[in-house]
Amino acid sequence: MCGIVGYIGKRDAYPIILNGLKRLEYRGYDSAGIALYDGSEIQLCKTKGKVADLEAKVSKEMPTKGNLGIGHTRWATHGIPNDVNSHPHFSNSGNLVIIHNGIIENYTSIKKELINRGYIFYSDTDTEVLVNLIEDVKKNENVKLGKAVQIALNQVVGAYAIAVYDKNKPDEIVVAKLGSPLAIGIGDDEFFIASDASPFIEFTNNAIYLEDEEMAIIRLGREINIRKIKDDSLVAPYIQELQLNLEQIEKGGYDHFMLKEIYEQPSVIQDTFRGRLLADKGIIRLGGLEDYIEKFVNADRIIIVACGTSWHAGLVAEYIFEDWARIPVEVEYASEFRYRNPVITEKDVVIAISQSGETADTLAAVKLAKEKGAFVYGICNVVGSTISRATHSGTYTHAGPEIGVASTKAFTTQITVLTMIALKLAKVKGTISQSDYMLHLRELDLIPSKVSTALDKNDSIIEIAKIFKDATNFLYLGRGYNFPVALEGALKLKEISYIHAEGYPAAEMKHGPIALIDEQMPIVVIAVNSNHYDKVVSNIQEIKSRKGKIIAVVTEGDTIVRELADYIMEVPYTPETLSPLVTTIPLQLLSYHIALMLKRNVDQPRNLAKAVTVE
Ligand code: F6R
Repeated sequence: MCGIVGYIGKRDAYPIILNGLKRLEYRGYDSAGIALYDGSEIQLCKTKGKVADLEAKVSKEMPTKGNLGIGHTRWATHGIPNDVNSHPHFSNSGNLVIIHNGIIENYTSIKKELINRGYIFYSDTDTEVLVNLIEDVKKNENVKLGKAVQIALNQVVGAYAIAVYDKNKPDEIVVAKLGSPLAIGIGDDEFFIASDASPFIEFTNNAIYLEDEEMAIIRLGREINIRKIKDDSLVAPYIQELQLNLEQIEKGGYDHFMLKEIYEQPSVIQDTFRGRLLADKGIIRLGGLEDYIEKFVNADRIIIVACGTSWHAGLVAEYIFEDWARIPVEVEYASEFRYRNPVITEKDVVIAISQSGETADTLAAVKLAKEKGAFVYGICNVVGSTISRATHSGTYTHAGPEIGVASTKAFTTQITVLTMIALKLAKVKGTISQSDYMLHLRELDLIPSKVSTALDKNDSIIEIAKIFKDATNFLYLGRGYNFPVALEGALKLKEISYIHAEGYPAAEMKHGPIALIDEQMPIVVIAVNSNHYDKVVSNIQEIKSRKGKIIAVVTEGDTIVRELADYIMEVPYTPETLSPLVTTIPLQLLSYHIALMLKRNVDQPRNLAKAVTVE
């Protein structure tokens, strides 16, 4: 994880780097630091805490003059979050300074070697080892910085996006990437470096995304020199035009990114099917799918790999794919799949779901599936992300930047894409009747307005949050299509409020969790219209007779559950197959309000980071 930023050009580097770090803080926020070249020396300031703490420290301790600098916001891997372990890190001579996102796995053996050669280490980090290795190579081989970086990186095992400069060569920054993202913004004789394009979006629309195992020497007044780290071969720069705009990465009047993103769902779901779903004409057109439809239709199985919330979207897909397209589906945690020696054949289609498109485990699962000959399809949000490029084909979700660490709009747009794929396949395979197909297309088209209606119930959800904010445990129950929604509701609550919550299939309650129920226990039950409605009602009765407190998500107009439940959260009617797109909304709002009332950092919950680029 971690966010990295760099600048070299004519402007003051400090405000660019500081603002960039604020935009990248979602990637890690336990410490931050900056290293500016002031014309003769490197000025360095770093601290445990947030970018705001860094800003305060810089204002007291560090001159901010200079047109070259690098900055870092950290999610600790090696060494606890403290001032010393924060990045940037100097080499022993004080000439080189580095920032790093990733992990150097063989740093212990390299460190030992360097200690034998007289190097001293001040931090517990793998990054300080890397910068000293680069220095050692530079000195011993008598090479320039770029070459030294290349030789050093050929000795390390692990993942990295790095930026390093030498105070004796202050017209140049060297960057490299393997496994962690790195974008270079190209201005008019100025360059920006960042983990994603958000830090430089107001300065340039042109960016190069480095590929894995590539490095670049960025020098003022010169073309960017991109090379393969392994064999030094030259790579022609591919400059992309960015689709991002400033408004998308700001809070737009909301108190938190998470709330903004929850409220964006009607419009981003619409964006996700814009030009792809033509409900009146009965057409679904997904660019990435059209050429590969036979792969899906003839597949023995679909295997979905993902982590966290994206894995929950995969679970919803299992229901819709099997129901409509009659293709067997397995949903795997990417982290388990990649280490399990799974049986995969060329007749399997693997779908990788990832908002960030950078999750290390999902990426490794993609690589494994490709090695074994499967066709791999990506569903990512971040355009140009590593997973979107590593897959054979795919569909973007078009949710726009998701900055709140807790995933919200990514989840509903992933389900939207998966629903379109399932309907398309069912239509091609003839496993859905024409009337059902048309009905679901029209219903899907109505989802944005139904999500808006669900959001309109916010005030009543605030009242429920007030009542339960001090609970220490929650259970979330759902059946069928809404079982994954129960898992997602519990995940949302625990990650941003730190209240323990478990999601279960409602019928599993009797096999254990029922023992937890007492008068204090809030149980959120998703009890909308469905084939299992009566069974869910029976589950609610069982909870009631044990005096649990029932908060039920119900369909507007429901009378039976309304009578039984202590509190209700209403959503508009949708067919059961599409219901996760609306039932998930009150659960997101409930988590948000409880976390807010508990004064949690909603957008940056403790210990988490947005893009999990380490395994
Ligand atoms: C939870 C959350 C995480 C992510 C998971 C996968 O709110 O955000 O569980 O869903 O880390 O991330 P992506 O989708 O970027 O691969």
